[in-house]
Amino acid sequence: MITTRHFSIDQLEDAAELLREGQLVAFPTETVFGLGANALDAAAVDRIFLAKGRPSDNPLIVHLASRDDLSKIVSHVPEVAQALMDRFWPGPLTLVFAKSAIVPRSVTAGLDTVAVRVPAHPVAAELIRLSGVPIAAPSANRSGRPSATTWQAVSEDLEGRIAGIIEGAPTQFGLESTVVDVSTSQVTLLRPGGVSFESLQQVVPGIQVYAKQSNATLSNQQLGPMERANETVNSPGLKHRHYQPKARIVLVKDLVSELRTGSEPAAFIGVSEPNDAPKYTRILVCHSVEEYASSLFDFFRQADQVGAKSIYCESVLEVGIGAALMDRLRRASES
Ligand code: TXA
Ligand code: MG
Repeated sequence: MITTRHFSIDQLEDAAELLREGQLVAFPTETVFGLGANALDAAAVDRIFLAKGRPSDNPLIVHLASRDDLSKIVSHVPEVAQALMDRFWPGPLTLVFAKSAIVPRSVTAGLDTVAVRVPAHPVAAELIRLSGVPIAAPSANRSGRPSATTWQAVSEDLEGRIAGIIEGAPTQFGLESTVVDVSTSQVTLLRPGGVSFESLQQVVPGIQVYAKQSNATLSNQQLGPMERANETVNSPGLKHRHYQPKARIVLVKDLVSELRTGSEPAAFIGVSEPNDAPKYTRILVCHSVEEYASSLFDFFRQADQVGAKSIYCESVLEVGIGAALMDRLRRASES
Protein backbone atom coordinates (compact mmCIF):
# COMPACT_ATOMS: atom_id res chain seq x y z
CA MET A 1 0.00 0.00 0.00
CA ILE A 2 1.19 3.51 -0.75
CA THR A 3 -0.31 6.84 0.28
CA THR A 4 -2.44 8.28 -2.47
CA ARG A 5 -2.26 12.08 -2.53
CA HIS A 6 -5.36 13.96 -3.63
CA PHE A 7 -4.93 17.12 -5.69
CA SER A 8 -7.33 19.90 -6.60
CA ILE A 9 -7.22 21.16 -10.17
CA ASP A 10 -5.04 24.08 -9.01
CA GLN A 11 -2.32 21.72 -7.80
CA LEU A 12 -1.32 20.30 -11.16
CA GLU A 13 2.36 21.28 -10.74
CA ASP A 14 2.66 18.89 -7.75
CA ALA A 15 0.91 16.13 -9.67
CA ALA A 16 3.17 16.71 -12.70
CA GLU A 17 6.19 16.33 -10.44
CA LEU A 18 5.00 12.86 -9.39
CA LEU A 19 4.67 11.94 -13.07
CA ARG A 20 8.21 13.15 -13.76
CA GLU A 21 9.41 10.96 -10.84
CA GLY A 22 7.92 7.89 -12.52
CA GLN A 23 4.82 7.70 -10.27
CA LEU A 24 1.18 7.15 -11.29
CA VAL A 25 -1.39 9.96 -11.26
CA ALA A 26 -5.08 9.63 -12.20
CA PHE A 27 -6.52 12.63 -14.03
CA PRO A 28 -9.79 13.64 -15.71
CA THR A 29 -10.19 13.68 -19.48
CA GLU A 30 -13.34 14.44 -21.49
CA THR A 31 -13.99 10.69 -21.90
CA VAL A 32 -13.11 8.90 -18.64
CA PHE A 33 -10.41 9.34 -15.97
CA GLY A 34 -6.99 8.13 -17.10
CA LEU A 35 -4.23 6.53 -15.02
CA GLY A 36 -1.11 8.33 -16.22
CA ALA A 37 2.59 7.51 -16.21
CA ASN A 38 5.59 8.84 -18.14
CA ALA A 39 5.25 6.92 -21.42
CA LEU A 40 9.02 7.01 -22.04
CA ASP A 41 9.88 5.44 -18.66
CA ALA A 42 9.44 1.64 -18.89
CA ALA A 43 9.49 1.21 -15.10
CA ALA A 44 6.73 3.80 -14.67
CA VAL A 45 4.67 2.09 -17.37
CA ASP A 46 5.08 -1.27 -15.62
CA ARG A 47 3.53 0.29 -12.51
CA ILE A 48 0.32 0.94 -14.50
CA PHE A 49 -0.09 -2.75 -15.31
CA LEU A 50 0.60 -3.66 -11.68
CA ALA A 51 -1.80 -1.10 -10.15
CA LYS A 52 -4.65 -2.03 -12.50
CA GLY A 53 -4.01 -5.77 -12.60
CA ARG A 54 -3.98 -5.29 -16.36
CA PRO A 55 -2.87 -8.12 -18.69
CA SER A 56 0.50 -7.15 -20.20
CA ASP A 57 -0.70 -7.92 -23.74
CA ASN A 58 -3.11 -4.95 -23.66
CA PRO A 59 -1.36 -1.85 -25.05
CA LEU A 60 -1.78 1.68 -23.68
CA ILE A 61 -2.80 4.97 -25.28
CA VAL A 62 -0.13 7.71 -25.21
CA HIS A 63 -1.56 11.15 -24.43
CA LEU A 64 0.04 14.34 -25.74
CA ALA A 65 -0.54 17.98 -24.79
CA SER A 66 -0.27 18.98 -28.41
CA ARG A 67 -0.13 17.48 -31.86
CA ASP A 68 3.31 19.10 -32.27
CA ASP A 69 4.81 16.36 -30.08
CA LEU A 70 3.56 13.56 -32.36
CA SER A 71 6.75 13.25 -34.40
CA LYS A 72 8.71 12.11 -31.30
CA ILE A 73 6.69 8.96 -30.79
CA VAL A 74 5.46 7.95 -34.25
CA SER A 75 7.58 7.12 -37.30
CA HIS A 76 5.09 8.08 -40.01
CA VAL A 77 2.00 10.30 -40.22
CA PRO A 78 -0.14 9.41 -43.25
CA GLU A 79 -2.17 12.12 -45.02
CA VAL A 80 -5.47 10.61 -43.93
CA ALA A 81 -4.33 10.93 -40.32
CA GLN A 82 -3.65 14.64 -40.86
CA ALA A 83 -7.23 15.07 -42.00
CA LEU A 84 -8.59 13.21 -38.97
CA MET A 85 -6.41 15.22 -36.58
CA ASP A 86 -7.48 18.50 -38.24
CA ARG A 87 -11.08 17.61 -37.63
CA PHE A 88 -11.08 15.78 -34.28
CA TRP A 89 -7.99 16.78 -32.24
CA PRO A 90 -7.96 17.72 -29.48
CA GLY A 91 -10.81 15.37 -28.59
CA PRO A 92 -12.02 11.81 -27.98
CA LEU A 93 -10.27 10.22 -30.98
CA THR A 94 -7.27 7.89 -30.58
CA LEU A 95 -5.19 7.14 -33.68
CA VAL A 96 -2.92 4.11 -34.09
CA PHE A 97 0.36 4.91 -35.92
CA ALA A 98 3.63 3.12 -36.68
CA LYS A 99 5.71 3.74 -33.54
CA SER A 100 9.14 5.31 -33.19
CA ALA A 101 12.00 3.56 -31.37
CA ILE A 102 11.70 5.84 -28.32
CA VAL A 103 8.39 4.24 -27.17
CA PRO A 104 9.02 1.33 -24.74
CA ARG A 105 7.66 -2.09 -25.75
CA SER A 106 5.58 -2.32 -22.58
CA VAL A 107 3.49 0.68 -23.74
CA THR A 108 2.55 -1.05 -26.98
CA ALA A 109 2.53 -4.62 -25.64
CA GLY A 110 5.20 -5.50 -28.17
CA LEU A 111 3.27 -4.12 -31.19
CA ASP A 112 5.03 -1.99 -33.83
CA THR A 113 2.22 0.53 -33.54
CA VAL A 114 1.35 3.10 -30.87
CA ALA A 115 -2.07 4.54 -30.02
CA VAL A 116 -2.05 8.34 -29.52
CA ARG A 117 -4.59 10.86 -28.32
CA VAL A 118 -4.60 14.60 -27.58
CA PRO A 119 -7.31 15.12 -24.95
CA ALA A 120 -9.50 18.23 -25.13
CA HIS A 121 -9.94 18.42 -21.34
CA PRO A 122 -8.07 21.50 -20.06
CA VAL A 123 -6.87 19.73 -16.87
CA ALA A 124 -5.50 16.79 -18.85
CA ALA A 125 -3.83 19.07 -21.38
CA GLU A 126 -2.24 21.23 -18.67
CA LEU A 127 -1.04 18.25 -16.61
CA ILE A 128 0.64 16.68 -19.64
CA ARG A 129 2.19 20.01 -20.61
CA LEU A 130 3.54 20.57 -17.09
CA SER A 131 4.95 17.04 -16.89
CA GLY A 132 6.92 17.68 -20.08
CA VAL A 133 6.64 14.07 -21.26
CA PRO A 134 4.10 11.98 -23.23
CA ILE A 135 1.71 10.31 -20.77
CA ALA A 136 0.64 6.67 -21.17
CA ALA A 137 -2.82 6.26 -19.67
CA PRO A 138 -5.42 3.53 -19.65
CA SER A 139 -8.77 4.14 -18.01
CA ALA A 140 -8.27 4.60 -14.24
CA ASN A 141 -10.11 1.50 -13.01
CA ARG A 142 -9.07 -1.98 -11.84
CA SER A 143 -8.86 -4.20 -14.91
CA GLY A 144 -12.26 -5.61 -15.92
CA ARG A 145 -14.23 -3.04 -13.88
CA PRO A 146 -16.35 -0.20 -15.31
CA SER A 147 -14.16 2.75 -16.36
CA ALA A 148 -14.00 5.56 -13.80
CA THR A 149 -16.00 8.68 -14.68
CA THR A 150 -15.59 10.39 -11.27
CA TRP A 151 -12.55 10.78 -9.02
CA GLN A 152 -14.46 8.89 -6.32
CA ALA A 153 -14.67 5.86 -8.65
CA VAL A 154 -10.90 6.12 -9.22
CA SER A 155 -10.41 6.16 -5.45
CA GLU A 156 -12.72 3.16 -4.98
CA ASP A 157 -10.57 1.08 -7.35
CA LEU A 158 -7.06 2.47 -6.90
CA GLU A 159 -6.67 4.22 -3.51
CA GLY A 160 -3.44 2.96 -1.93
CA ARG A 161 -2.16 1.63 -5.25
CA ILE A 162 -1.26 4.91 -7.02
CA ALA A 163 0.61 8.09 -6.06
CA GLY A 164 -2.03 10.67 -6.89
CA ILE A 165 -5.60 11.46 -7.93
CA ILE A 166 -6.69 14.79 -9.39
CA GLU A 167 -10.13 15.63 -8.08
CA GLY A 168 -11.61 16.91 -11.35
CA ALA A 169 -15.33 17.08 -12.14
CA PRO A 170 -17.19 14.03 -13.54
CA THR A 171 -16.27 13.39 -17.17
CA GLN A 172 -18.34 14.70 -20.07
CA PHE A 173 -18.68 11.72 -22.46
CA GLY A 174 -18.45 8.94 -19.89
CA LEU A 175 -17.34 6.41 -22.52
CA GLU A 176 -13.81 5.99 -23.82
CA SER A 177 -12.31 7.47 -26.97
CA THR A 178 -12.88 6.09 -30.45
CA VAL A 179 -9.83 4.09 -31.61
CA VAL A 180 -8.96 4.22 -35.32
CA ASP A 181 -6.01 2.44 -36.94
CA VAL A 182 -4.26 4.64 -39.53
CA SER A 183 -1.05 2.57 -39.59
CA THR A 184 -2.02 0.75 -42.81
CA SER A 185 -3.63 1.98 -46.03
CA GLN A 186 -7.03 0.64 -44.91
CA VAL A 187 -8.28 2.99 -42.17
CA THR A 188 -10.10 0.84 -39.61
CA LEU A 189 -12.34 1.58 -36.61
CA LEU A 190 -11.13 -0.62 -33.74
CA ARG A 191 -13.26 0.73 -30.89
CA PRO A 192 -16.37 2.93 -31.12
CA GLY A 193 -16.33 5.88 -28.72
CA GLY A 194 -16.77 9.62 -28.28
CA VAL A 195 -16.33 10.40 -31.99
CA SER A 196 -19.08 8.69 -34.00
CA PHE A 197 -18.54 6.39 -36.97
CA GLU A 198 -20.77 8.66 -39.08
CA SER A 199 -18.57 11.72 -38.42
CA LEU A 200 -15.42 9.70 -39.18
CA GLN A 201 -16.98 8.61 -42.47
CA GLN A 202 -17.38 12.26 -43.45
CA VAL A 203 -13.59 12.63 -43.35
CA VAL A 204 -12.64 9.10 -44.47
CA PRO A 205 -15.46 7.66 -46.62
CA GLY A 206 -13.55 4.37 -47.03
CA ILE A 207 -13.19 3.69 -43.29
CA GLN A 208 -14.06 0.13 -42.36
CA VAL A 209 -15.09 -1.43 -39.10
CA TYR A 210 -12.97 -4.31 -37.93
CA ALA A 211 -14.90 -7.56 -38.38
CA LYS A 212 -15.49 -9.94 -35.52
CA GLN A 213 -14.07 -13.39 -36.32
CA SER A 214 -17.33 -15.21 -35.71
CA ASN A 215 -19.15 -12.77 -37.97
CA ALA A 216 -16.71 -13.32 -40.81
CA THR A 217 -19.29 -15.13 -42.90
CA LEU A 218 -21.80 -12.27 -42.67
CA SER A 219 -21.43 -9.31 -44.99
CA ASN A 220 -20.87 -5.90 -43.41
CA GLN A 221 -24.35 -4.89 -44.56
CA GLN A 222 -25.90 -7.52 -42.33
CA LEU A 223 -24.23 -6.17 -39.21
CA GLY A 224 -24.57 -2.92 -37.28
CA PRO A 225 -21.31 -0.99 -36.94
CA MET A 226 -20.91 -2.22 -33.37
CA GLU A 227 -21.31 -5.85 -34.22
CA ARG A 228 -18.69 -5.37 -36.89
CA ALA A 229 -16.37 -3.78 -34.33
CA ASN A 230 -17.10 -6.15 -31.50
CA GLU A 231 -13.95 -8.24 -31.45
CA THR A 232 -10.67 -7.69 -33.07
CA VAL A 233 -7.24 -9.21 -33.08
CA ASN A 234 -5.84 -5.80 -34.11
CA SER A 235 -6.70 -4.16 -30.81
CA PRO A 236 -5.72 -6.69 -28.17
CA GLY A 237 -7.60 -4.93 -25.38
CA LEU A 238 -10.92 -5.71 -26.95
CA LYS A 239 -10.64 -9.42 -26.26
CA HIS A 240 -10.39 -8.97 -22.49
CA ARG A 241 -13.25 -8.97 -20.01
CA HIS A 242 -14.41 -5.38 -19.70
CA TYR A 243 -16.63 -2.81 -18.04
CA GLN A 244 -18.20 -5.26 -15.61
CA PRO A 245 -19.98 -4.40 -12.41
CA LYS A 246 -20.60 -7.21 -9.89
CA ALA A 247 -24.27 -7.35 -10.93
CA ARG A 248 -25.35 -9.25 -14.04
CA ILE A 249 -26.09 -7.02 -17.04
CA VAL A 250 -29.34 -7.73 -18.89
CA LEU A 251 -29.84 -6.02 -22.25
CA VAL A 252 -33.49 -5.09 -22.71
CA LYS A 253 -34.55 -4.79 -26.34
CA ASP A 254 -38.26 -4.36 -25.86
CA LEU A 255 -39.46 -2.67 -22.67
CA VAL A 256 -43.07 -3.79 -23.04
CA SER A 257 -42.69 -7.52 -23.57
CA GLU A 258 -39.46 -8.12 -21.66
CA LEU A 259 -40.32 -7.28 -18.10
CA ARG A 260 -37.98 -8.59 -15.49
CA THR A 261 -38.54 -11.83 -13.72
CA GLY A 262 -37.60 -12.89 -10.19
CA SER A 263 -37.60 -10.91 -6.97
CA GLU A 264 -33.89 -10.28 -6.38
CA PRO A 265 -32.88 -6.58 -6.10
CA ALA A 266 -32.39 -5.10 -9.56
CA ALA A 267 -31.59 -1.77 -11.18
CA PHE A 268 -32.71 -0.20 -14.46
CA ILE A 269 -31.10 2.37 -16.75
CA GLY A 270 -32.41 3.61 -20.10
CA VAL A 271 -34.14 6.45 -21.91
CA SER A 272 -37.71 5.24 -21.27
CA GLU A 273 -39.60 4.53 -18.07
CA PRO A 274 -40.14 0.76 -17.72
CA ASN A 275 -43.69 -0.45 -16.97
CA ASP A 276 -42.49 -2.24 -13.85
CA ALA A 277 -40.56 0.80 -12.54
CA PRO A 278 -41.57 0.44 -8.85
CA LYS A 279 -39.94 -3.00 -8.71
CA TYR A 280 -36.40 -1.66 -9.15
CA THR A 281 -34.12 -0.83 -6.24
CA ARG A 282 -32.49 1.88 -8.32
CA ILE A 283 -33.68 3.40 -11.57
CA LEU A 284 -32.29 6.04 -13.93
CA VAL A 285 -34.36 7.29 -16.86
CA CYS A 286 -32.11 9.56 -18.97
CA HIS A 287 -33.27 12.46 -21.13
CA SER A 288 -31.01 11.55 -24.03
CA VAL A 289 -28.71 8.82 -25.30
CA GLU A 290 -25.79 11.18 -24.52
CA GLU A 291 -26.87 11.35 -20.88
CA TYR A 292 -27.33 7.55 -20.83
CA ALA A 293 -23.77 7.11 -22.15
CA SER A 294 -22.25 9.56 -19.67
CA SER A 295 -24.15 8.04 -16.71
CA LEU A 296 -23.65 4.35 -17.49
CA PHE A 297 -20.43 3.44 -15.71
CA ASP A 298 -21.27 5.42 -12.60
CA PHE A 299 -24.70 3.81 -12.54
CA PHE A 300 -23.06 0.36 -12.68
CA ARG A 301 -21.05 1.26 -9.58
CA GLN A 302 -24.09 2.70 -7.76
CA ALA A 303 -26.12 -0.42 -8.54
CA ASP A 304 -23.38 -2.55 -7.00
CA GLN A 305 -23.37 -0.34 -3.91
CA VAL A 306 -27.10 -0.83 -3.32
CA GLY A 307 -26.71 -4.59 -3.77
CA ALA A 308 -28.51 -4.99 -7.11
CA LYS A 309 -28.05 -8.52 -8.45
CA SER A 310 -28.88 -7.50 -12.01
CA ILE A 311 -28.91 -4.28 -14.02
CA TYR A 312 -31.47 -4.01 -16.79
CA CYS A 313 -30.15 -1.77 -19.58
CA GLU A 314 -32.38 -0.51 -22.37
CA SER A 315 -31.04 -1.05 -25.91
CA VAL A 316 -30.68 2.07 -28.09
CA LEU A 317 -30.22 2.70 -31.80
CA GLU A 318 -26.63 2.23 -32.91
CA VAL A 319 -26.09 5.71 -34.30
CA GLY A 320 -23.82 8.45 -32.94
CA ILE A 321 -22.77 7.77 -29.35
CA GLY A 322 -25.46 5.04 -29.28
CA ALA A 323 -23.04 2.77 -31.15
CA ALA A 324 -20.37 3.11 -28.46
CA LEU A 325 -22.99 2.69 -25.73
CA MET A 326 -24.30 -0.56 -27.24
CA ASP A 327 -20.72 -1.81 -27.66
CA ARG A 328 -20.03 -1.30 -23.93
CA LEU A 329 -23.36 -2.84 -22.94
CA ARG A 330 -22.68 -5.95 -25.03
CA ARG A 331 -19.21 -6.35 -23.58
CA ALA A 332 -20.48 -5.82 -20.04
CA SER A 333 -23.18 -8.45 -20.56
CA GLU A 334 -20.68 -11.09 -21.72
CA SER A 335 -19.45 -13.14 -18.80
O1 TXA B 1 -10.83 7.62 -23.63
C1 TXA B 1 -9.87 6.86 -23.56
O2 TXA B 1 -9.37 6.31 -24.56
C2 TXA B 1 -9.28 6.61 -22.17
C3 TXA B 1 -8.70 7.92 -21.68
C4 TXA B 1 -7.96 7.76 -20.38
O3 TXA B 1 -7.88 8.47 -22.67
N1 TXA B 1 -8.30 5.57 -22.20
C5 TXA B 1 -8.64 4.27 -22.41
O4 TXA B 1 -7.56 3.40 -22.35
O5 TXA B 1 -9.75 3.89 -22.62
P1 TXA B 1 -7.72 1.81 -22.27
O6 TXA B 1 -6.36 1.33 -21.97
O7 TXA B 1 -8.78 1.46 -21.32
O8 TXA B 1 -8.08 1.39 -23.73
C6 TXA B 1 -7.11 1.48 -24.77
C7 TXA B 1 -7.59 0.74 -25.98
C8 TXA B 1 -7.56 -0.75 -25.79
O9 TXA B 1 -8.69 -1.34 -26.41
C9 TXA B 1 -6.27 -1.14 -26.50
O10 TXA B 1 -6.26 -2.47 -26.96
C10 TXA B 1 -6.25 -0.14 -27.64
O11 TXA B 1 -6.71 1.05 -27.08
N2 TXA B 1 -4.89 0.06 -28.15
C11 TXA B 1 -3.85 0.64 -27.53
N3 TXA B 1 -2.74 0.61 -28.29
C12 TXA B 1 -3.08 -0.03 -29.43
C13 TXA B 1 -2.38 -0.36 -30.62
N4 TXA B 1 -1.08 -0.10 -30.77
N5 TXA B 1 -3.05 -0.99 -31.59
C14 TXA B 1 -4.38 -1.26 -31.45
N6 TXA B 1 -5.11 -0.97 -30.34
C15 TXA B 1 -4.46 -0.36 -29.35
MG1 MG C 1 -10.09 0.47 -20.09
